[in-house]
Order: sequence, then structure tokens, then C-alpha cells
Amino acid sequence: MAIVAWREQMSLNYLPLDQEHQAFLKVVNYSITAAHAGDFDGMERVFEACYDYVRNHFSHEEDIMERISFPDMKAHMQAHRTFIKNISEFRQKYEKAATPVKKKEAAVKTADFLSLWLIGHILSRDKLLKPYLVRLRNLPPRMNYDSPLGV
Ligand SMILES: [Fe+2]
Ligand SMILES: [Fe+2]
Repeated sequence: MAIVAWREQMSLNYLPLDQEHQAFLKVVNYSITAAHAGDFDGMERVFEACYDYVRNHFSHEEDIMERISFPDMKAHMQAHRTFIKNISEFRQKYEKAATPVKKKEAAVKTADFLSLWLIGHILSRDKLLKPYLVRLRNLPPRMNYDSPLGV
């Protein structure tokens, strides 16, 4: 899997979420380099960064979906839950790999999964949010606590 470049079509025109997606894209690209180099310390950092992403970004995105009454919220949250399950399965396989060769194979599979997942999720699921994000502007101040730079 080649390094993934940010494309304009991935943008939601909403800075807080775009910046989080771009930051995770860097993690994904780091995972490709680390996996192919057999850099196992680097892969540990990748898994930790995945858990941070899940904790911070998914909860941020789901909070926004709730505030703007996004109609497809349930399916989108389910896609997030599936990713959490997938990533822990990839980690288990990686941890269980008995030899450095097998560990490297598991690392490459993880990196391939991450790059396909991120592009696919942004372009198919997160993009659906784009037309609804303007609703943030019209929320009462107590519900619109995101950066004013965002919209
Ligand atoms: Fe999402
Ligand atoms: Fe997202």
C-alpha cells in the first residue's frame, strides 16, 4: 500500500474535523512505513494512536452528529464500533505473531487495513455529514461550543 495523500474531496469544509482526519492520515502513513521497515516500536505507537483517535475523534464526531440531528447517526456510530472491534482484532493477531517475519506480516496487514478504512470511511460515511455541518451555525450558543473557526 502506497502512502496516502490528502485529497480535497476528503474535506468536510469544517476545520476541527478535517484537522483530526489529516492527523490520523499521518498516523496511517506512519504505519505503512513502520510496517514495511519491521519497526515494531513504531507499530506500538500506531496502535496507541488508533486508540487515541477512537477516544477523541469518534466521540467528537458523534457529539456533533447528535447536536445537528444527523439522520444517519445510528449507522455511522455502528461503523465506528466496527472499526474499534477490527483494530483490536488486528492488534491481537499482531501480538500473537510468534516470529519477527509473522509480526511484520501482521503489521503490513494492519497498515493496509488502516489506509483502506480511513479513505473509505471519510469518503463514504464522514462525507455524508458535510451538508449538515452548516446546522452548527444555527445552534444556540450553549450547543455550539466548537471553534468559531470551524464553520
Ligand atoms: Fe466517522
Ligand atoms: Fe471521522
